[in-house]
Amino acid sequence: MYVYDEYDHAIIQDRVKQYRDQTRRYFEGKLSEEEFLPLRLQNGLYVQRMAPMLRVAVPYGMLASKQIRKLAEIARKYDKGYAHFSTRQNLQFNWPELADVPDILQELADVEMHAVQTSGNCIRNTTTDQFAGVCTGEVEDPRPYCEIIRQWSTFHPEFAFLPRKFKIAVNANTESDRSATDVHDISLHLVKNAEGKTGFRVVVGGGLGRTPIIGSAIRDYLPAEDLLTYLEAIIRVYNQKGNRLNKYKARIKILVKALTPAKFAELVEEEWSHIKDSDSKLTPELLEKMKSYFTEPAYEALEDNSPEFEAKLAESKGFANWVNRNVAQHKKPGYAIATLSIKRPGHAPGDVTDVQLDKIADLADQYSFGEARTTHEQNIVLADVKKSDLFAVWEAAKEAGFATPNLGLLTDMICCPGGDYCALANAKSIPVADEIMRRFDDLDYLHDLGDLDLNISGCMNACGHHHVGNIGILGVDKKGEEFYQISLGGDSGKLNTTAIGKILGPSFKRDEVVDVLDKILNIYVENRQEDELFIDTFKRIGMEVFKERVYAKAN
Ligand code: HEM
Ligand code: SF4
Repeated sequence: MYVYDEYDHAIIQDRVKQYRDQTRRYFEGKLSEEEFLPLRLQNGLYVQRMAPMLRVAVPYGMLASKQIRKLAEIARKYDKGYAHFSTRQNLQFNWPELADVPDILQELADVEMHAVQTSGNCIRNTTTDQFAGVCTGEVEDPRPYCEIIRQWSTFHPEFAFLPRKFKIAVNANTESDRSATDVHDISLHLVKNAEGKTGFRVVVGGGLGRTPIIGSAIRDYLPAEDLLTYLEAIIRVYNQKGNRLNKYKARIKILVKALTPAKFAELVEEEWSHIKDSDSKLTPELLEKMKSYFTEPAYEALEDNSPEFEAKLAESKGFANWVNRNVAQHKKPGYAIATLSIKRPGHAPGDVTDVQLDKIADLADQYSFGEARTTHEQNIVLADVKKSDLFAVWEAAKEAGFATPNLGLLTDMICCPGGDYCALANAKSIPVADEIMRRFDDLDYLHDLGDLDLNISGCMNACGHHHVGNIGILGVDKKGEEFYQISLGGDSGKLNTTAIGKILGPSFKRDEVVDVLDKILNIYVENRQEDELFIDTFKRIGMEVFKERVYAKAN
């Protein structure tokens, strides 16, 4: 894991001091609301329906146990004992007091964390696969590149005031895409060229929100050393040509669409030709230095088969279910990747308590080299667990309430905070998620349904990624009343299959949503061929079958 050097420390400490002074001047009336707004946004602080929301950066999802303990402490001391994992691997506090934020930032700085550039029109946290560096099927570990992008983008003077916020994701896996990469402003896919040299396929102009668009590839191969100069060229073109007058047309996706990807690529290549050999070109030394932060932990040389583990599997059906769903294959023999599910009835998806955070830190220390990772689907990963330790991890996770064996299933949904917290919401989303979790609580049924992404957003900003859910639920406002629009066929799980869902038809009242979902699932079950996933059945039989059945009674 990357460890701050003296410069990182100095920059973050200075930033806390500046913000403390800005907050003081705001409370003394020396800074107006208007003047204070950009200052607080640059430090991750939104003002929401009930209270401010503070978004803490978790670079590419990596957390050390001492950082997790600090987050638990902050949740306890300054919040209501909760924190919330976001879809971009960050962590949000929903109830801090404005006056406490400088102290919170100081506490974060003490463990090498901050909230800089987690909001505002700048380059946000770069996200990646939570299984980076430990999974099979990876071209190379993407994290050193994410860290290079982090250091370049945080505080980048030229890109602090872009037309709109800017999100980059990196994927290195040739079999899967666990971070919805192609719906980002820039998505980078690690690839090797014919000579076996590492580079990137560069995709731009993806995004969700009001105008959902899947990004377009503008370069099939960019050598790794050109990463920053090329990013610089893309963002410079966007910075110059993006729409600054209309917020709804300001994202790079709109510019790329308007110009066409081919024309946009041409402009980028032209800009790049001037800067490709500038100081920002990555040297082999720098690449090596970054890679040295992400070397392998002290793995033991183990047999892949652990008799202890096999015995427990045979003994306990509950454990076997959990392993089957929540444990993934590790590239090292005898190790496994365990995902702790942060989804359970009565709690908003992604919500963790201070007690759970402390428990995660303990588990990380005891079983996973002191590290844990946050995921796009709002869960937590212990990336390096010995197979022989899995049973102990499962038992501890069960006790702490995050061992639901539902990873990738219907109830492992992404859900934004919606009308309960968010000032922009058209409808509540947490109670809908809760109703679904309560109705579909039969694990056998959920396992029988198989992999199925259900995503919920409380408004068209699409924080809950409803567009790319196999089933998407979107809160809409109908003359002041909360309604829900359902879409089918969205996808973000595999490589090159990213798809935006299509709207089923007229929206539903809150109390109809779960029944409609039930109908949709029944139609799938009746029509599926052996082992066919929901998304594949949908692709094969099409929308009409669903439409006719779901709206049959109304007609
Ligand atoms: C409660 C405070 C929140 C506010 C005010 C807020 C606001 C917004 C807005 C306005 C957008 C649309 C930007 C655009 O496309 O132009 C957006 C997008 C997004 N938000 Fe939030 N959000 C909040 C919470 C969250 C949470 C809790 C999550 C994670 C679960 C989240 C994740 C995202 C993501 C991933 C997008 C990107 C959609 C895209 O790719 O265009 N937000 N948010
Ligand atoms: S989708 Fe809308 S309601 Fe949900 S968090 Fe984002 S802005 Fe708020």
